[in-house]
Amino acid sequence: MDKSMKDAVQKIVIKHGVGKEFLLPILKEVQKLNKYHYIPQDVSQYMAKYMGIHESEVYEVISFYAEFSEVPRGENVIKVCDSTVCKVNDNEELIGLLEDVLGIGMGETSENKKFSLEFSPCFGACDIAPAIRINGEVFGNLNKERLEEILQYYKEGPHEKNS
Ligand code: FES
Repeated sequence: MDKSMKDAVQKIVIKHGVGKEFLLPILKEVQKLNKYHYIPQDVSQYMAKYMGIHESEVYEVISFYAEFSEVPRGENVIKVCDSTVCKVNDNEELIGLLEDVLGIGMGETSENKKFSLEFSPCFGACDIAPAIRINGEVFGNLNKERLEEILQYYKEGPHEKNS
């Protein structure tokens, strides 16, 4: 782990606070430091040491929340809602479209590391179900054309939501 990563982690921890009650917002930002949307083991170990808490407490949070990963994902992580309202609004068809366009299945990452496809519980976009989230940005009411347009935009480079 290089010095610039250590500095970035320290900055995030100082911004939020050293207590373990701040682990969630800290981990969200730390994961954003990595273009492949994951938290490498050496980074979580360093975080725990710097915060003076046990490594297992950091791993517990990482493994509990689906938005965190310990393994590299695509530059763009597509979360497909798999909760009730999206299911009854035919998220199956949307999943089929995504799998066709990207050439990968749910739970997989494309070979060029551009996209990962993952399930997600409801993220509050039920009014536009079936909904997806790409790097935190929500999209709904999708047809094939609109979906291809959105994916093209993300193909051109990783785009992050600014929040
Ligand atoms: S059920 Fe899918 S966003 Fe709420």
